[in-house]
Formats: sequence, C-alpha cells, structure tokens
Amino acid sequence: MDHTLPAHIALIMDGNGRWAEARGRPRAEGHRAGAEAVRRVVTQCRATGIRHVTLYAFSSENWGRPKAEIRHLFSLLGEFLGREVPLMEEKGIALNVLGDMAALPLAARAALERGIRRTAGGGDMTLNLALNYGARSELARAARSFILEGARPEDVTEQRLAERLYTAGQPDPDFLIRTGGEQRLSNFLLYQCAYAELYFTPVLWPDFREEDLRAALEVYAARSRRFGKI
Ligand code: FPP
Repeated sequence: MDHTLPAHIALIMDGNGRWAEARGRPRAEGHRAGAEAVRRVVTQCRATGIRHVTLYAFSSENWGRPKAEIRHLFSLLGEFLGREVPLMEEKGIALNVLGDMAALPLAARAALERGIRRTAGGGDMTLNLALNYGARSELARAARSFILEGARPEDVTEQRLAERLYTAGQPDPDFLIRTGGEQRLSNFLLYQCAYAELYFTPVLWPDFREEDLRAALEVYAARSRRFGKI
C-alpha cells in the first residue's frame, strides 16, 4: 500500500457563488461549473488510485438558501446522475449517499436510489455524496440507534459508533481539502476526520483543476512522509 497516497479524500467544494459573481453571472452558473469540476476531480482521483472520495454537495444548513438556488442544485444533481451513473457503472465506481435522504426532493431521491442500485458492487472506487448531511446530526442519529437497540453502556465503543455512521465500512478520510479560502470544517465528518490532514486553498471550486489536486497530493505526501513510520 502506498502511504503517500490518501485512501480517502474528503472535499468541501466552496466558492461556486463567488466564481459566478466575479463574472457577473448568476450563482446557478457557478454551480454548473462546479458540477464540471466534480467530474474532473472524480476522474482524476480514480486514475490516481484513490479508493474513496467524499464530496460535501449539500449540507443540512444549505436549506437556508433561496428556494430557487436549492431547486437548481437538485436539478443539477439529477442531470449529473443521469449523465454520470452509466459511466460510473462502467468504471466500477460505487455511488453512496451520506446524509438523510428522506428530506430530499423526490426526483433527486429516486435518481440517487437508482444510481446506488446500478453502481453497487463497483470495486474500483466509492463516491460518497454528502447530501442533507451534518456531522452533529449524524452523531445524534448513531446515539439514537444505540438506545433503540437497548445497548448497555459498555456496548458503546468507538468501533460500534463508527459502524452507525453513514461512512460505515469505509476508511476514515486521511486528507480533507477545502477550496474557496475559508478555513473551517462546517459540520463535515467531524468524527471521521479526527486524524485527517487538512488542506485549505483559496482556489474557488469551479477553478480547481488537475494541477491543483496534484499540488495538494504532493503536500499530503510530504506531510505523511514526515510523520509516518520509517
Ligand atoms: C459551495 O459554493 C457549493 C455548494 C453549496 C454546493 C456544491 C455543489 C456543486 C459542486 C454542484 C453540484 C454537485 C454535484 C455533486 C453534481 P457556494 O455557493 O457556497 O459558493 P460561495 O461561498 O462562493 O457563495
């Protein structure tokens, strides 16, 4: 195993709105360009040999955005899945959702469920889309499931807790990248990122290109060489 390469990359894709505003264009165009960046990055991750990629596509706090923007984001997601799921199936990329799908618009939910079914068993890579996701509510959900099962205090171990998270069965992210200049986690994978290397770049998400990911991976490799076992 190549320890200079992360097994799992988590991405906070920030800056779509600013990208559009800088061009005097509606925010929707920034999200559309953001979806193109998703395609590029996922393709590059697979080619590089990264086995798990998690994208923060819609946080539980994002419901506070204007209705039209929310509608646009989910219609983009539907378009994206319609185009990409057949390719994912072909390339062995399994689609997975982190978050509460029950509250998603019906069409988006149906497209996601279809995509998950069609790509199940994809052994090359797992693509997690965090949708209606919030780390604190994920942890509260895990706590509720212990109670519902009548767990005793000694049953509540780190491992059993991890098994109740949306990422159950997957390695923790070892590298978290946030674009768009902000340096915070915004309620993303708080439990799973306990040991993740953090990388913040001012590059806006739609501008995040192959060379930007390559540069980030070089930083990761250097850090893990410095702190890893000899
Ligand atoms: C942050 O930009 C981005 C989002 C809230 C959503 C991310 C969505 C996409 C990349 C497009 C669709 C996704 C998929 C998986 C097809 P922002 O609007 O917060 O930007 P700002 O900080 O500049 O306002």
